[in-house]
Amino acid sequence: MKIAVLPGDGIGPEIVAQAVRVLKALGPNFDLEEAPVGGAAYDVAGHPLPPATLELAKKADAILFGAVGDWKYDTLARELRPEQAILGLRKHLELFANFRPAICYPELTSASSLKPEIIGGLDILIVRELNGDIYFGQPRGIRTSELPLFKGAREGFDTMHYSEPEVERIAHVAFEAARKRGKKVCSVDKANVLETSQLWREVMIRISKEYPDVELSHMYVDNAAMQLVKAPKAFDVVVTGNLFGDILSDEAAMLTGSIGMLPSASLDKNNKGLYEPSHGSAPDIAGKGIANPLATILSAAMMLRYSLGMPAQADRIEKAVQNVLAQGFRTADIYTEGTKKVSTIQMGDAVVAALS
Ligand code: IPM
Ligand code: MG
Repeated sequence: MKIAVLPGDGIGPEIVAQAVRVLKALGPNFDLEEAPVGGAAYDVAGHPLPPATLELAKKADAILFGAVGDWKYDTLARELRPEQAILGLRKHLELFANFRPAICYPELTSASSLKPEIIGGLDILIVRELNGDIYFGQPRGIRTSELPLFKGAREGFDTMHYSEPEVERIAHVAFEAARKRGKKVCSVDKANVLETSQLWREVMIRISKEYPDVELSHMYVDNAAMQLVKAPKAFDVVVTGNLFGDILSDEAAMLTGSIGMLPSASLDKNNKGLYEPSHGSAPDIAGKGIANPLATILSAAMMLRYSLGMPAQADRIEKAVQNVLAQGFRTADIYTEGTKKVSTIQMGDAVVAALS
């Protein structure tokens, strides 16, 4: 099994190193090959997604990804910014289905800014479409405005669109996922304003007929943002487009109090996937050895389950993580009084030890 290891920027290399240790400790002989991505790749190869990195990602069975982005690249032209690496990988590999679970671990309930009764036992899944929407829509750019009031001024513009097949395939992913969980799908859109959303909703309703055992509901994105903090446990699977999913998945992750805990998977139609923590590159804490590697370690577990067909090994990692939490080990982001504060490497040590 070939795994492309793309550590990236900021805390990426530190957290990916711990996930790699965990994979190696599992036993099976994975063929791990590393390549630069994001700002780190721009520095050595002049592009955030160099051809060699893309080639490696294409030929691998799965991709383990850290994070990209750093303020020092903020002044680069958009096509050279680190974010283009992850967007390019998603697009080139047709990784259209993004799974972002938000789970509140019982040991970490007090780390959330919400009351324990609101988030205790939370287990929701955001299914975010990843290949379409305003992220990739053309035309886009900066031009001279034709609006009578602002004629001649510079204006930025982007295009939101979704074709029916794009909505159909993410709908199937969401309904299938719900079948294996709480059998509820909430489709989030802005159908009261956007044409794109109106079509999205129509397609969701049509596809839902193929899943009579799953209950479909709809919510406008502004209301969904509110309901996520008011009564998050009312959700099971949330399916939404690229832009709304970007925003709501950060919100859902933070509900759990520990964005450093949440893995994600981005899959193509054959379940080949890219696995990354839900959090970003956190350049402010990079190199300090305090980042939480658990989201990346749990992403490696998702990789074993979804792309590599090794569910027993995935279970082993997930149990080991629960075990280290039960033992009281905490990185700074999830530390509360009475627990044991550990570094990134010590957390990796603890997980490796808990595997056996
Ligand atoms: C995410 C990130 C990316 C996105 C950025 C880095 C381009 O925020 O994975 O949620 O907007 O999709
Ligand atoms: Mg985001």
